[in-house]
Amino acid sequence: MNPARKRVAVLISGRGSNLQALIDATDQKGFPAEVALVISDRPDAQGLQRAERAGIARLVLVPKELGGRAAFEGALDEALREAGIDLICLAGFMRILGADFVARWQGRLINIHPSLLPAFPGLDTHQRALEAGVKLHGCSVHFVDAGVDSGPIIGQAAVPVLPDDDADGLADRVLAAEHRLYSRCLELICLDQVQLLGGGAKLAPAAATKSGALANPEPR
Ligand code: GRF
Repeated sequence: MNPARKRVAVLISGRGSNLQALIDATDQKGFPAEVALVISDRPDAQGLQRAERAGIARLVLVPKELGGRAAFEGALDEALREAGIDLICLAGFMRILGADFVARWQGRLINIHPSLLPAFPGLDTHQRALEAGVKLHGCSVHFVDAGVDSGPIIGQAAVPVLPDDDADGLADRVLAAEHRLYSRCLELICLDQVQLLGGGAKLAPAAATKSGALANPEPR
């Protein structure tokens, strides 16, 4: 193991396809991070099996069983610290984290959201994009702040809305873009190419221009 690699925890609630993309990316030689821990708030999350297959430590923390949100976030914080985690990636984690927890991990807590923020925060983004008639949709990776999908944006990938799209078809194409974008943004953070400045995420010039892939990967 390369000791310089950042230790990443991925928090999930379900399918875990973004977790899988992060596992695959971090498995590549030279990637500056490793997925050291996967935490789910649901015992039946499919992503837990992905972590098991990859030999990654897993933990299930169910808020209701722990006595509510404060206890859950306390246990979460303790587990992350015990595991020496540097950075948390939310990947389909279906809970809002409280302001105290978010403040403790500020700048080290990121999320992927399936829309071009600030458009369509919250749920059902693909259906809402179709109803709004936007011609470009996509995904965003952002630092988490105390709001809902409102933190500083690190990277975005645009995906065209096609005339015959339904929400599922559009979601599939956005998801493919998510898988590429998340690992790229994680890599930039681990390489110190992203800075939190004046309420925004500032990319180092080399990172912003290195390839078009961060701002707008080829739609597939
Ligand atoms: C993704 O679309 C992610 O952007 C959103 O929830 C979905 C999770 O999918 N927050 P998966 O569990 O990573 O497959």
